[in-house]
Amino acid sequence: MFDFKNKVVYQIYPKSFYDSNNDGLGDIKGMTEKLDYIKELGVDYIWSTPFFKSPQNDNGYDVADYYSIDPSYGTMEDVEELIEEADKRGIALMFDMVFNHTSTEHEWFKKALAGDEYYKDFYIFKDPVDGKAPTNWVSKFGGNAWEYSKEWGQYYLHLFDVTQADLNWENPNVRKALADVVKFWIDKGVKGFRFDVVNLISKPDTFENDYEGDGRRFYTDGKKVNQYLKELCKESGITGNDILTVGEMSSTTLENCAIYSDPREEELSMCFNFHHLKVDYKNNQKWEVMPYDFQMLKDLYNEWQLGMQERNGWNALFWNNHDQPRALSRFCNDTTYRSESAKMLGACIHLMQGTPYIYQGEEIGMTNAGFRQIDKYKDVESHNYFKILQESGKTEEEAYDILNERSRDNARTPMQWNGNEGGFTSANPWIDMIDNYKEVNVENELKSEDSVFSFYQELIKLRKEYKVVSEGLYEVMLEKHPQIFAYKRSYDTQEMLVFNNFFEKTVEIPYNLEGYKCILNNYNETTESSSLKPFQTKTYIKI
Ligand code: GLC
Repeated sequence: MFDFKNKVVYQIYPKSFYDSNNDGLGDIKGMTEKLDYIKELGVDYIWSTPFFKSPQNDNGYDVADYYSIDPSYGTMEDVEELIEEADKRGIALMFDMVFNHTSTEHEWFKKALAGDEYYKDFYIFKDPVDGKAPTNWVSKFGGNAWEYSKEWGQYYLHLFDVTQADLNWENPNVRKALADVVKFWIDKGVKGFRFDVVNLISKPDTFENDYEGDGRRFYTDGKKVNQYLKELCKESGITGNDILTVGEMSSTTLENCAIYSDPREEELSMCFNFHHLKVDYKNNQKWEVMPYDFQMLKDLYNEWQLGMQERNGWNALFWNNHDQPRALSRFCNDTTYRSESAKMLGACIHLMQGTPYIYQGEEIGMTNAGFRQIDKYKDVESHNYFKILQESGKTEEEAYDILNERSRDNARTPMQWNGNEGGFTSANPWIDMIDNYKEVNVENELKSEDSVFSFYQELIKLRKEYKVVSEGLYEVMLEKHPQIFAYKRSYDTQEMLVFNNFFEKTVEIPYNLEGYKCILNNYNETTESSSLKPFQTKTYIKI
């Protein structure tokens, strides 16, 4: 069986990673140039967000051709070189497959609008109801989820932007076309795939209004999704071939994720879920903010750790990605205790059961952007909600306060390579750098011995060295402690205890540590102590 349990994945958002040709946009050659840096960190896979041909309305998640590279990122040769150079360094590539929808610029959609019935059936077109959209479903980026097409006198479904038309997975030709895409990239040497919002692909038989919500309950974890995933993996050559897969699951459930990631089901290696990243959503609404609920955060992690373990499922472990504000700014202190906090957050998830993902910049403790001028924001969702929030009565200042907490652009700013203009590009970057690049940057990190970067190296080493990290059972500790997030891992005779202080106040560890030795600490301490300083993390192993 494919054994990936000691592997770690690094996520790159190419547009903001490294600009090799100085046009202000990060590119594929830029990724290749920085492979030695990634190798030094010690990861096994690079997941890159999409760089396929695309009008870039959603930064590449609106794919116009799965077989060609968007010229703003480079060429097919650049991609081949990236795969080859990464392979030389023992790093595999994981590509991002956006299969719930295509761009409306995709050949298939253009043919559909031009009157081709065959391609029309690649999408979800429905008649108007009472002269209006077929249902009241809300798009994830705001507004109704249907767009009128005068060509057909019908509406097409777009769960995301109007330029991202949902594919009709009921159609076997669609499923075959998508499996062919995966096959093509496997033949090029790609060893992993991330499937974008893949639990939304199975739509209901009938489309009806949702009077209780925004429609998601009708298409989330739909009834044929398991069948479709099995087919996709089998037909594309994923099944049985040591290819790492992760599904991005939107508003999913534990029970469903356990099935998607149970190896016996031959669907996916693991799943991303987002429940733990909603603990600061007021009334469960993304665009309403509140201080985060620490107990809820712990409960959710614990529930998913235990629940997946019991059911033979596997979690993708992450705090950050290109859609989330930086966890460091969100849950900890990103100024006085920036470095301590970054390390503590890293330890907290890297020592759990599952596969850790590191999002570019996390390994050097990058922070939220916090822009307060709308033209500094580039994301379609941020622009839509800046308007929607003000239409719903918020002042401009309040709308900025919310964007500062929620905008996806918080984590999309350029990678901070050095203190000299940031080192990402010598042109104008497509999105502003964060001012703290003078202090927070790769060059500084690589110089210092107790950097966030070296702590992450250590975390990755621990996963490779200790089976208790990669395979051990998870047990909840100090469940209701108001300040400490703690857990126990065990494997054979190995036992490991992990304690994380999520707050600034120093706190005693209420546990007898006799017979244990500390093997990881984000503070340089010469004497043993049984307390945790601000944002301190300590890991003990049984002797
Ligand atoms: C996923 C991607 C996100 C994108 C959306 C639509 O959530 O991570 O960036 O906007 O899917 O494709």
